[in-house]
Amino acid sequence: MIDYTEKIPNNVDLGRDRGLQRALEHWQPAYMGWWYDMGPNESHNYEVYLRTAISVEADGWAQFDYVKMPEYRWGIFLQPRDEKREVNFGIHKGQPAWQEVPGEYRSTLRRVIVTQGDTEPASVEQQRLLGSSCPSMYDLRNIFQVNVEEGRHLWAMVYLLHRYFGRDGREEAEALLARRSGDADNPRILGAFNEPTPDWLAFYMFTFFTDRDGKFQLCALAESGFDPLSRTCRFMLTEEAHHMFVGETGVTRIIKRTCEVMKENKLEDPAQVRALGVIDLETIQRYLNFHYSVTLDLYGSDVSSNAASYFTNGLKGRFRETKLDDDHLLSDSEYPVYEVVGDRIIKKSVPALTALNERLRDDYIEEIADGVARWQRVIDEAGIPFKLTLPHKGFHRAIGNFAGHHIGVDGAVLTAEAWDKRKHEWLPSPADEKFVQSLMTGRVVEPGKFANWIAPPLRGINSKPLDFEYVRFN
Ligand SMILES: [Fe+2]
Ligand SMILES: [Fe+2]
Repeated sequence: MIDYTEKIPNNVDLGRDRGLQRALEHWQPAYMGWWYDMGPNESHNYEVYLRTAISVEADGWAQFDYVKMPEYRWGIFLQPRDEKREVNFGIHKGQPAWQEVPGEYRSTLRRVIVTQGDTEPASVEQQRLLGSSCPSMYDLRNIFQVNVEEGRHLWAMVYLLHRYFGRDGREEAEALLARRSGDADNPRILGAFNEPTPDWLAFYMFTFFTDRDGKFQLCALAESGFDPLSRTCRFMLTEEAHHMFVGETGVTRIIKRTCEVMKENKLEDPAQVRALGVIDLETIQRYLNFHYSVTLDLYGSDVSSNAASYFTNGLKGRFRETKLDDDHLLSDSEYPVYEVVGDRIIKKSVPALTALNERLRDDYIEEIADGVARWQRVIDEAGIPFKLTLPHKGFHRAIGNFAGHHIGVDGAVLTAEAWDKRKHEWLPSPADEKFVQSLMTGRVVEPGKFANWIAPPLRGINSKPLDFEYVRFN
């Protein structure tokens, strides 16, 4: 018998709920089986300098020490309950926040939790081979940190399923360990989580773009009237910030290194830049276009009656719902969406309630644009005349009003042939990926060393020096 109250750090009084303990006793070995199969490749004996959350207090969620990842203490943490919290939007606005699942919303809430939960193990699966081509020990430690935390996010969602959804919840929790990213028969639920993450440029782009989708979804769920979901998501957001940091700084460091080499050698031609073993800015732009567009799809259809009912019923709010200054009902407001009519993209007003996916996507785009502007600053400071741009919202989309259309990066509506002809100006070609991967054929793990194609970070983890031994191989 495992003492779960000791093994699983938690602030939900796990030891006092026998039913929940039994469910977790059943699920935990299956989770470990999944981690051994699908967690980071060949990593099980490594001792990694990781941050482990042991409580939600400021001094408790950032404990650093060496740990073998299979022994990581995947805990269950909810932000402390605010007894006065209410449902803050929709038709139940003003009622006390729900501590149990309202019967009429049970299947909807379960679906929302399963969809979020499914993304967590998916990204671990997508990233599992990257350790063998890491650019430094610092980066290796960071990807492992992201991976164990995505594992913890799965625990967070599985806790809700086990605790609040009975037998259906237990079945869903098992299914979360059975699906596999990219599998033809049993794929992960959402498209972007079935795409491969074949190299470190893709990894940093993924953590910048797709983990940020995670942030926005968690922010919307943190507004939920179902209080345990809200409290779980609030704590997950503290960890998500680090994942986006890894992505943003990773791309920044690649750009910085490329610009250094370009300046030193007074070169701008991508082929010549590549010949010096760094990633040309044009390729970085194509990776950006790809990850941005597949992540935009994660927000769903521009006009959605599901999104409207999630909001009306108090299940999923808007980004920063309680900070918004309106009636929180949206009964008579409107919101603009875009549609392709003939060879033009037109703007159209629809009831704001039905456009909540689009609104969350727009909030996301705003934050993304700020991040891309920060990358641009690195290029500008190097005095290189290259502009990183965000493609048009309709570019390369598979879900919503743009699906089925061929939109260029500048928003031009094209024929299929015209789009295909320019496709690899805009999206990474097999040759681009082959080039990027050719830089990453082995791992760089000597403490303090960095691969040629990336600049060192400004500082180490938890005030440790850059040449600290972040991972001990055994
Ligand atoms: Fe996550
Ligand atoms: Fe994440």
